[in-house]
Amino acid sequence: MNEMSKVGGDSAEQPQVIPNEAYVSEAYARAENDKLWPKVWQIACRVEEIPKVGDYVTYDILDESIIVVRSAPDKISGYYNVCQHRGRRLTEGCGQAKQFRCRFHGWCWNLEGKSTFVLDPQDWGACLTPENLRLKEVKVDTWGGWVWINMDSNCQPLKDYLEPAVSMLAPFELDQMRYRWRQWLYFPCNWKTALEAFNESYHVDATHPQLIRFGSTSWWSKAENHCGWHGVASSRDGQVRGGSKGLGGVMAAPDQDPRLAAAEHQNELIATLDAVTTATLVRAANRLVDELPPGTPADVVGAHLMAAAERDDAARGVIWPKIDPAQWAAAGHDWHIFPNTVILQGPAFALCYRARPNGYNPDSCIFEVYVLERFPEGQEPKTEWVYKPEATEEQWLKILSQDFGNMPQVQKGMKSRGFMGARPSPVQEVAVTHFHRLLAKYMGTGTPQPVK
Ligand code: FES
Ligand SMILES: [Fe+2]
Repeated sequence: MNEMSKVGGDSAEQPQVIPNEAYVSEAYARAENDKLWPKVWQIACRVEEIPKVGDYVTYDILDESIIVVRSAPDKISGYYNVCQHRGRRLTEGCGQAKQFRCRFHGWCWNLEGKSTFVLDPQDWGACLTPENLRLKEVKVDTWGGWVWINMDSNCQPLKDYLEPAVSMLAPFELDQMRYRWRQWLYFPCNWKTALEAFNESYHVDATHPQLIRFGSTSWWSKAENHCGWHGVASSRDGQVRGGSKGLGGVMAAPDQDPRLAAAEHQNELIATLDAVTTATLVRAANRLVDELPPGTPADVVGAHLMAAAERDDAARGVIWPKIDPAQWAAAGHDWHIFPNTVILQGPAFALCYRARPNGYNPDSCIFEVYVLERFPEGQEPKTEWVYKPEATEEQWLKILSQDFGNMPQVQKGMKSRGFMGARPSPVQEVAVTHFHRLLAKYMGTGTPQPVK
């Protein structure tokens, strides 16, 4: 494993400076359209969005548009969203189609991408062939319950691209989760600035000061292949942590009753983020004070909470995956998958982010946040993307509005003559640096440099 492909962990890498160009240059944003987006695996949608044959989603990335469609009960296909006559887009948004019919002159294709109708084909003589009329395909594969696309016909297989996420996140069974809520907005910062507000937790104490009362921890972070991930390293001030090493555990300062701290923490998460916990966990946390005696140590409280929530969920038909504690510890709680996805995973839930450029303006992006959860079969809620244009606490709750407060300010600061480039922590923000190493590899420019 060379330094490029695997960094972080026990020993700090050399501090690096990230050149600003990637965040603020319009020329760079344009170059991404040629060098980055057509070469990488990207999430187009969740599998659950296209359950029936003919269900489709249109995935737009800059000037390109892809139709992802369930073309057979066990097959999902991807096509460039363009009519082979004179180039009209065939679909917008999502829907259900028996065929794709162009609204301009009525040419049609079936779900397998085969031409089924051309008006007056004799006009072209023998020039129109089934082969050159076909919709042009893009690579499609699934993992984790997502549909991924890649425009590069020579790309590496999805599962190779995603390692080690495929192996290390397998125990969480993300494919068994379904949307609980999903929201999006246009955001006044580069798509990378947005994503990097969520692929490290070094910012937690300063950005979310209300969470310090549950303990302050430092974080380990690692990176390999197209992934960067992090988890809790150690307490900064001697407080005790119990339960899982990932999300859903118990944090309590030495002077706190861990039963009360756990309940307060879970209630706070649901009220101020509506994510990284579940109603089941909150209810189980609220019973801790009745079910455990005073003086119960934090690790016992944590184990009891998780066991109780697992039992409660099982009773309603939600069976948690068996996650080996060592696997859980190694997986941490937050994964950045290059280039534009972040996943925070737990035993029955996940909080996910996707950021895309909004045209070639480097100061604007499309930012999406969604929560997945395991539901009893048949009780999955019906959800759709909800546009919440204001980056306020009212629309996005407290924690995300706090994160949102940083993003445009970072974007502005990047342009200052007084800024020499980002200096991520070589211990806690390895995912950020690794992101830019990979980006430089694709873009052929601007790799992070050692701090002088
Ligand atoms: S552009 Fe589609 S049928 Fe003419
Ligand atoms: Fe945050």
